[in-house]
Amino acid sequence: MRKLIVLAAMSVLIAVAGSCSKEDPPKNEAVYNPTAASITIPAFVKQYIGEMPMPSDNPLTTEGIFLGRKLFYEKMLSNDMTMSCASCHKQENGFDDPRPFSQGTNGSFGDRNAMAIINLAWDKHFFWDGRRSSLEGQAHDPVTNPIEMANNWPDVVQRLQASGEYPELFFKALGTRKIDSNLVVKAIAQFERTLVSFNSRFDKYYYMGDSSALNEQEKRGLSIFTGKGLCKNCHLMNTLLTDLEFRNNGLDENPKDAGLMKFTGIAADNGKFKVPTLRNIAVTAPYMHDSRFATLEEVVAFYSSQVKQNSPNLDEHMPEFKSGLNLTIQEKADLVAFLKSLTDKDFITNPAFSQP
Ligand code: HEC
Ligand code: HEC
Repeated sequence: MRKLIVLAAMSVLIAVAGSCSKEDPPKNEAVYNPTAASITIPAFVKQYIGEMPMPSDNPLTTEGIFLGRKLFYEKMLSNDMTMSCASCHKQENGFDDPRPFSQGTNGSFGDRNAMAIINLAWDKHFFWDGRRSSLEGQAHDPVTNPIEMANNWPDVVQRLQASGEYPELFFKALGTRKIDSNLVVKAIAQFERTLVSFNSRFDKYYYMGDSSALNEQEKRGLSIFTGKGLCKNCHLMNTLLTDLEFRNNGLDENPKDAGLMKFTGIAADNGKFKVPTLRNIAVTAPYMHDSRFATLEEVVAFYSSQVKQNSPNLDEHMPEFKSGLNLTIQEKADLVAFLKSLTDKDFITNPAFSQP
């Protein structure tokens, strides 16, 4: 026991002596001391889906979010320095790509529509086929994808390391000036978690009780969405407007793209795709994984009478779709009007999300 006390006393002495040794950093050098950040989430959202989940090894900080935002708009990530994440994920389009198929730096096109980046902090599976299970993991892929940024990580890291400003920004955000790919994706994921959208007219009406926020036609459309149209069976009224599952909504009798099966190899997953959020849907055209529909009118016409009954693994939530919903012309127009009320103007114009 006495030994321990002596040892403790000695280490205090050493610590005191150490504090005036020559190894001390100069006084003007920055200390790693990031500012913990939290995103304000409306109370009604927390009631349905709880606080924003946060990985313990990548908590939000003001410095981390700023670095991630800068990297999201950083063209050094692509091989020829012409493309950033934002080239295909545009804020005014709900961080989606208005082009049916995104074009990579080498000119070739992908075969899937880009996806909106909205409220993904609550999600667990990413891409149309769910092949990535974290935002950090997801962000690795576009950089090296030959039909996207077509780059390699050593080159990206070397460029960022050689730039005047990035090493200092990484130090402030993540505690080291030595950049690597894991730190890059951590910062980008922090920025992506801040992309929350819960402030449409629909939210004001449905969750916040402002009865004048929707007009009569939009209210009728909402009733179809939650009633006869069965939309809410998969695009849940849980504030996310998705159940975060993978389902086949009956687009094809013989799906060209196997969707979830591409990732799992299981036949029962053939034709299943991620149920996307419908938030900001009016600005994220074209629609479906292969951009087959240019307008919401086409989408609604599909659900009304074009669901393919022989589609493999057609979703159990869609038995009624088998005979066709057969919405009237008026009902279809009402439903489309409702979908357009899901746009959150603050989200698509928020200066905190734009190019820094
Ligand atoms: C060339 C266009 C392009 C670029 C550049 C691009 N993406 Fe994407 N992004 C897509 C496409 C296309 C998909 C869907 C691909 C699929 O499902 O196979 C997608 C999917 C995603 C998803 C999945 C969303 C969800 O709901 O599952 C996220 C997140 C994402 N991208 C973030 C990023 C980030 C971060 C970057 C930059 C590091 C980036 N993207 C660069 C086209 C692009
Ligand atoms: C069985 C579950 C299910 C039901 C019910 C359902 N959807 Fe969907 N919805 C999906 C899936 C899965 C996708 C993505 C399909 C794909 O791209 O292959 C989707 C895609 C969409 C899209 C395109 C989203 C985008 O980002 O491209 C819209 C719009 C849409 N649904 C609206 C509706 C409406 C309106 C209804 C009710 C009439 C409805 N959905 C009913 C599962 C469902």
